[in-house]
Amino acid sequence: MKKQKVLVIMGSPRKRGNSTILAEEAAKGARRIGAEVEIVRLRDMAIRPCLACESCRRKGAKGCVQDDGMTLLYPKLRAADAIVISSPVYWFTMSAQVKLLMDRLYAFGAEKGYALEGKGIGIILTYADADPFSSGAVNALRAFQDAFAFIGAPIKGMVYGSASKVGEIRGNKTLMKDARALGKKLGA
Ligand SMILES: Cc1cc2nc3c(=O)[nH]c(=O)nc-3n(C[C@H](O)[C@H](O)[C@H](O)COP(=O)(O)O)c2cc1C
Repeated sequence: MKKQKVLVIMGSPRKRGNSTILAEEAAKGARRIGAEVEIVRLRDMAIRPCLACESCRRKGAKGCVQDDGMTLLYPKLRAADAIVISSPVYWFTMSAQVKLLMDRLYAFGAEKGYALEGKGIGIILTYADADPFSSGAVNALRAFQDAFAFIGAPIKGMVYGSASKVGEIRGNKTLMKDARALGKKLGA
């Protein structure tokens, strides 16, 4: 059987942050069942905001006109069978790094399903508040649900939980296990 390609996109500016730790567990789970896993860290990718220039929608357009971190990421998104996106909750929604990525998916818009149709999606979120509502995690979850439903890419699982200091999430064994299970699901 063909190896599944899983792209793990880490959206925290913290190198060893809580959402990153869960994303690494998801990567581990996917590798364990034989998937090919690639990890990218948005903090290292210098992705600029969408310019809304609409160049990507013109007849014969070859994607986004900007040459930045997305130049590397667009082909990786296309090639993946499944995609994990991890993010901290910042100001009651996803991190700015992840929002930049989401906006830049607009450049796939000339194609059916934004080039991501049918790909399995996994979402990982961490936040400081104990509650997913008052933390704002639900806003991020809803935004991902709406965006990927629009694109036609099914969300296969969402792993989210509370942690504040770097590494604190390791103490939540259930969440660590859930993240590995998400990786396995996406890598199968
Ligand atoms: C700029 C900033 C904004 C934040 N906003 C929120 C918030 O709105 N709600 C919340 O519960 N936690 C908030 N937090 C806390 C982080 O979500 C929390 O520490 C999370 O575990 C960080 O994940 P990371 O370690 O993967 O970066 C914020 C932290 C920072 C630095």
